[in-house]
Amino acid sequence: MSSLESLFVNNRQWAESVNSSDPEFFEKLAAQQNPDYLWIGCSDSRVPANQIVGLLPGEVFVHRNVANMVVHTDFNCLTVLQYAIEILQVKHVIVVGHYNCGGVLAAFENSDNGMIDNWLRNIKDVQQAHRKRINALEDKEARVDLLCELNVMTQVTNVCHTSIVQNAWARGQQVDVHGWIYSLKDGLLKDLVCSINSPDQISEVYRILSPED
Ligand code: CO
Repeated sequence: MSSLESLFVNNRQWAESVNSSDPEFFEKLAAQQNPDYLWIGCSDSRVPANQIVGLLPGEVFVHRNVANMVVHTDFNCLTVLQYAIEILQVKHVIVVGHYNCGGVLAAFENSDNGMIDNWLRNIKDVQQAHRKRINALEDKEARVDLLCELNVMTQVTNVCHTSIVQNAWARGQQVDVHGWIYSLKDGLLKDLVCSINSPDQISEVYRILSPED
């Protein structure tokens, strides 16, 4: 059996097992999705959103890219964010980074990686902004780990700087934005305690004022 055929075998077994525990599962999900969470994570194959937090299909809306970035010119990510907030009305947007992130490491090192460096440049900017704190650490692994954390925190603020999130807050819609980091070594998530849920928690520079402000 080829490796691709085995995926179809796995799929049939999975569908049968889900069906046997809840015969209406697929029927209900086909009718609508109603997730409370938007997960913005890294594409890394070792960080699968649903499995890590024990959620079923339908329970988390997911966007993944290299190094869990939220870039204000990235229509892909912004489209996911707008759909999640305005249509699905998710209550929580969670940026989830991970230690030993290859994207963050590639940005940290000063090598030439070709086209992808244009994407990783966004992480370089995080490194530049926090270079004193990063360079104060002794070993390279600790520096890259800190950059992984600072990258997540920066992407949390980037989510909040969008008109999508700020307009939701102006409408009175609950949108809590969080930053977490995952350890490949033990499978555990850590809250970076950088949650934001109102415009007064972001810099005035990025704040969108409504006419009555
Ligand atoms: Co990664």
